[in-house]
Amino acid sequence: MKMAPDSDIDDILTEHAGREGALLPILHDIQARFGHVGEAVIPTIAQALNISRAEVHGVISFYHDFHTTPPRLPVIKLCRAESCQARGVEALAAAFADETRVSIEPVYCLGLCSVGPNAWVGDQLYARLTPERLAALVEQVA
Ligand code: FES
Repeated sequence: MKMAPDSDIDDILTEHAGREGALLPILHDIQARFGHVGEAVIPTIAQALNISRAEVHGVISFYHDFHTTPPRLPVIKLCRAESCQARGVEALAAAFADETRVSIEPVYCLGLCSVGPNAWVGDQLYARLTPERLAALVEQVA
């Protein structure tokens, strides 16, 4: 997905203007919208939050969830946290370990622990995943 025009980034920055701890929500919004947080937007974010570019870059590089380049494949975030583990996510992940049409990446708790295993694609959550439901999700996003 192509990185945002400046006006789209400005809209996200405006939405979070004045909030305490706005950096992470801004980065999440940019990544959710454009699939990555490109290096080109770092100066804009730093200026808007009155922090250094190094601080913005440090947060992006600390959290493995953030990508600085567009994802090569469609991404399915599969919850690998404890409740989803107890509900069989490890066997599910192993069954799709050789999947080459999508990138199945770990995420740690999506807040739907009682209905796992769960996944997140774009801005959609998928609960009660079975091998069949995950296969259907892979077909849908590939
Ligand atoms: S542990 Fe998977 S959603 Fe919470």
